[in-house]
Amino acid sequence: MAICHIKMYLISLLTKFLHFLPAEFSHLVAMKGLKISNYLGLLKLLQSKIKSKPDTTTKDMTRLVGKVGLAAGLDKNGDYIDCLAALGIDFIEVGTVTPRAQKGNPRPRIFRNKKDKSIINRLGFNNKGVDHLVQNLKRKKSNIIVGSSIGRNFDTSNDDAVNDYLYCLERVYRYSDYIAVNISSPNSKDLRKLGNKKYLDSLLETIKSAQDRLSRVHKFVPIFVKISPDETEENLKTICNSIIQCKIDGIICTNTSIEHSHEDGQGGISGAPLKEKSTTCLNYVKSLVGDSLTIIASGGVMSASDFHAKIEAGADHVQLYTGFIFEGPKLIQDIIDLNLDKLKT
Ligand code: FNR
Repeated sequence: MAICHIKMYLISLLTKFLHFLPAEFSHLVAMKGLKISNYLGLLKLLQSKIKSKPDTTTKDMTRLVGKVGLAAGLDKNGDYIDCLAALGIDFIEVGTVTPRAQKGNPRPRIFRNKKDKSIINRLGFNNKGVDHLVQNLKRKKSNIIVGSSIGRNFDTSNDDAVNDYLYCLERVYRYSDYIAVNISSPNSKDLRKLGNKKYLDSLLETIKSAQDRLSRVHKFVPIFVKISPDETEENLKTICNSIIQCKIDGIICTNTSIEHSHEDGQGGISGAPLKEKSTTCLNYVKSLVGDSLTIIASGGVMSASDFHAKIEAGADHVQLYTGFIFEGPKLIQDIIDLNLDKLKT
């Protein structure tokens, strides 16, 4: 157990060192480093800690509670599932993927701000395409819960977006434990307009009937819709109504926010400055949907106490991204420790 803690601290220290490199490059170096460490068996020591967590007999996120996961965007193509699983998290959301591979926006497009512990990103769904993700999902060895986040290509209009979501859904369905329908990235032009009733009802109806059809052949895979923290209360009401009416299983609160005036320019902000806004949105969504939907919280979780604040606000599960970048795997360890302490009391 002590060795496990020391190793977590060492990896976290290394993570901090990587922050001296340009953000996108250091992300790549960190992920490759994790992959090599896993390949060499160096992450195995961490797994004693994982075994001390209670076993789960189901991977259905709508029936589980209090899980800690990594949010979409960290492993866009599912290239690092096994090594991320070795860090002790309960689930990983891979993606967002689109039908065809795409490069995303011009670089630089990720900016880390150490002072306020935030990231601005305007990546724009850079990914290797859904088929590459499916190959990785088929190959993975770990039994970790994996959600697949799906979106549309940058050059697909909102009128045709439903075809892109359906194309991705059909491919990832049998290899995923849940599917996240991403309609809230601020970096893909007009994507957030898919939250308007004009598009949302028919998008979710099509997705629901595909889920019905696929679950007759394969297992049941719950669908989540990931929403923006920048929606008005009026829009949130419309979105939640549509989600409930279409019998979608859950909601992810929230993606990044465009409401900032950071010197790094346009893009979505994540990390500490997003926490309050995202939790306000979570609170409001919970007041609208009650217990009828499973809620995954995402936005500004930088400490174990932030994790519990999200659960208090109504989340069933919580995801990390920016907190993981700044604090490293130690954040996961802190959350697991606090959860184990709570279980004991
Ligand atoms: C993201 N996020 C994201 N979300 C998503 O649904 N699909 C994606 O592809 C991405 N990509 C992405 C890249 C980068 C560099 C960042 C920082 C974020 C949003 C992410 O999943 C999460 O919802 C937000 O970052 C809020 O959580 P944190 O970072 O404040 O914990």
